[in-house]
Amino acid sequence: MEEVTFVGEALPFEERIELPNWGRRATTIKDYQRYLIGTVENFREFWANAARELEWFQPWTAVLEDGEHPYVTRWFPGAKTNISHLCLDRHVRGSRKNKVALIWEGEPRDEVGNPREVRKYTYYDLWREVNRVAFALRSKLGLVRGDRAAIYMPMIPELPIILLALARLGVIFSAVFSGFSADNLALRIKDLEAKVLITADGFYRRGKVLRLKETADQAASSSGIIQNMVVVRRVGLEVKMREGRDVWLHDLLSAVPPTSGVEPERLESDYPLYVLYTSGTTGGPKGIIHDHGGYAVLLHTTMKEVFDIKDEDVYYCTADIGWVTGHSYIVFGPLIEGATTMMFEGTPDYPAPDTWWSIVERYGVTVFYTTPTATRMLMKFGNDPVKKHDLSTLRLIHSVGEPINPSAWYWLFEHVGGKRCPVGSTWWMTETGGIMISYAPGTKLVPLKPGANGPPLPGIDADVVDEAGDPVPQGKKGFLVIKKPFPGMPSPPTGMWGDPERYASVYFEKFPGKGYFYAGDYAVKDVDGYIWVAGRADEVLKVAGHRIGTYELESALVSHPAVAEAAVVARPDPVKGESPIAFAVLKEGRHPTPELTAELRRWVRERFGAIAEPSDVFFVTRLPKTRSGKIMRRLIKAVASGSQLGDITTLEDEGAVDEVKVAYQEFVKAMGRG
Ligand code: WT7
Repeated sequence: MEEVTFVGEALPFEERIELPNWGRRATTIKDYQRYLIGTVENFREFWANAARELEWFQPWTAVLEDGEHPYVTRWFPGAKTNISHLCLDRHVRGSRKNKVALIWEGEPRDEVGNPREVRKYTYYDLWREVNRVAFALRSKLGLVRGDRAAIYMPMIPELPIILLALARLGVIFSAVFSGFSADNLALRIKDLEAKVLITADGFYRRGKVLRLKETADQAASSSGIIQNMVVVRRVGLEVKMREGRDVWLHDLLSAVPPTSGVEPERLESDYPLYVLYTSGTTGGPKGIIHDHGGYAVLLHTTMKEVFDIKDEDVYYCTADIGWVTGHSYIVFGPLIEGATTMMFEGTPDYPAPDTWWSIVERYGVTVFYTTPTATRMLMKFGNDPVKKHDLSTLRLIHSVGEPINPSAWYWLFEHVGGKRCPVGSTWWMTETGGIMISYAPGTKLVPLKPGANGPPLPGIDADVVDEAGDPVPQGKKGFLVIKKPFPGMPSPPTGMWGDPERYASVYFEKFPGKGYFYAGDYAVKDVDGYIWVAGRADEVLKVAGHRIGTYELESALVSHPAVAEAAVVARPDPVKGESPIAFAVLKEGRHPTPELTAELRRWVRERFGAIAEPSDVFFVTRLPKTRSGKIMRRLIKAVASGSQLGDITTLEDEGAVDEVKVAYQEFVKAMGRG
């Protein structure tokens, strides 16, 4: 096996941990492999059966329509549905009407550490609220099918309610993470041509009140196209409301009778539900489109397979709804299943590092979905915060967003899951919309390996290939691809908002003629057919599991008057997995100072958002480039992570690498880390 490490730890390819009594569905790897092969060979039938488990206004005329190109596909053409119907109406008509759909906890605590605010919505409550909001948005603001709305909201119940209301109307929405800057929000509003922006006055974060409306105002003005702004009152802040444009949600709703509603629009299965922007190698963020029908089928299937979701579960995903994980696995996935989904406004370590564990205990959480970064951060506090709480209700744990290092895996397995619970690392991405590679304890549980993603899910033809697209031998690193279409997969030409060519070329033309979806990740397949995703193969950073494009940060840096050129690379980080560091070439007459370093870090934070703030900025007089002028980030990254430089034959000027080395090593020495 090729040696592969995460956060400095070698991967234990040989280790196998069995939980033989798991729901009496534990199985051998061989049996499971046989089953998987069958689902991939008959993938149309597999997905058609999954789709039949949902409700459709109108059935499909074909399961999958293949286009002329190997990759142009449409799932369930002819079928009509609406995801809001699947999440709400379907349950309200049946026995789940009075079941708790959503438990929400606010961040503020009382003197003894209990939450000051808890809200619970039954399916019926949620259905009524969604109906009223949809009614108000349509009757007061004139929002109709095909319109676009941008969402810039904190983790409050109004967020899922608004998403479901917009889905109900067929309004295409884009939710923007509330930690993003005004620039980032404006960029998305413009690209989407959104006419409505929905936000809140502010929210609580680590005991402080963060103001949101001002940032929304800046973005609305600079975009120049927002006709209406709807504001949710979360904190009770004094905010400026612009006459004729801004309106409080509670004012919009005050005149709406409690029983008002709108029937869900009957939409084509592949009608866009939302556009979610994510970073790529070049250019600005890409607007990935997910639809109503195929996406719902994928979420339904993965909720069953991966989370083994049952009516008695209390399911808690710790993500923020501003990212795809929250869209798919806090809002739409759990609600399609009629599950009880938990939503928390705050962070894991405020006011104390046992906040998440107190939530698990308070609501009897059974299924827990979190991230490696949060796990590593909580591990630093030791086991006492975990031991303080009764976590015996937990039966299943998964993580997502980045590779999980074996010691973080073991910590979840032993201390959080009490060695009873399967622990998985579910691989997927914004583009796939739902989980692709994971253990499937809801179907059959195979032996666990600390740090592995596991076999591909049933019906998913994932593989690891070389530059030519041919499978690499087991144990060798290669590129992760998905060889067959799956429901929810954004297919060219309609996969990316406003840029169909870019979508096809980025994801489907890396291996010409094959029709493979190229994920942009390195991976290894082991002797048991388990996949171990080993990080990005491109220049995208993964900071605390969030995806950040080097290009976007570099453009933020060069927009500063002192900076002529910049290169951003990832440095391995013991908690966040990776952290961005910048190398900058200054303009004539500008000189490196500690103040300038601080200013550039702040500059990026203000222009992008706190998650992208470079942890260091180094000044050099030139950057290593190829003879054709491309910055060789690979070399800079090798210096920053202390690894081999590799092939430098295309490098124009070796002195530039030396300079990067010197700048970096001086820093390491100064920090006493050498
Ligand atoms: C990238 C996608 C999927 C929702 C959150 C991130 C990395 C994601 C894993 C995992 C190893 C992972 C990949 C992928 N990634 N999950 N379990 N093991 N790597 O979505 O921001 O679109 O990022 O995250 O590099 O390509 P995203």
